[in-house]
Amino acid sequence: MAKKKSAKEAWMPLDDEGVEYEPWQKLTLTRVEAETRSQLASKPHRLNHTLSVARTAEHLAVLYDVDPYLARLAGLLHDWDKVVPKDELIKRAHHFGIELGAPMEKAEPLLHGMVAARELPARYPHIPHEVWHAIACHTSAAEDMEPLDMVLFVADGIEPLRRASEGIKQTRSMVGKASLEDVFWNAFVGGIIYVLEGGRYLLPRTIEIYNSIAQRRENKRRISSRS
Ligand SMILES: [Fe+2]
Ligand SMILES: [Fe+2]
Repeated sequence: MAKKKSAKEAWMPLDDEGVEYEPWQKLTLTRVEAETRSQLASKPHRLNHTLSVARTAEHLAVLYDVDPYLARLAGLLHDWDKVVPKDELIKRAHHFGIELGAPMEKAEPLLHGMVAARELPARYPHIPHEVWHAIACHTSAAEDMEPLDMVLFVADGIEPLRRASEGIKQTRSMVGKASLEDVFWNAFVGGIIYVLEGGRYLLPRTIEIYNSIAQRRENKRRISSRS
């Protein structure tokens, strides 16, 4: 008997999410995508990842009632500065006063989002600040994660071109079944476990963010168990 073709899993972006964008939104998305393609042209893998994150973020946004236009824009622009050489990125981070409580060389992998979020508003003044906030915290997370921030963070971690570790498989399996907060938490903690298991340097800032979000989740659990 022929094997039944399995339906797309809930985390996977669709070919067409069915979002009806306004003409001005379509124009902006087309312009930003074209400029992202040109910005990342020297790194085809990064470009493919970026386009995949944009589609996944749009999909998650539809699923979790977040603005898909902002999610797609955030996806398209999130790795804009991944083509900037390490020394130059550190120089720009110093220029913007970005301080992560760790040697810059250790923090460098997290800087591209924070730097892009400070540079790009001048190029795209009409893009709302929520998009820059999401981009700024897509590598590090933050104490004040909004739904759009979580959508980008999760999309970056689970987009279909990313090779699936056990943690990524678990996060993917939660999409559509668990709340966005829980899916984000799983992705965030999975990232920390990955760093620890690889014996890599864990930024003190990450521990602070972890403790802050863990405490908030604990408080929420306590309140809901009382009611
Ligand atoms: Fe990134
Ligand atoms: Fe990325």
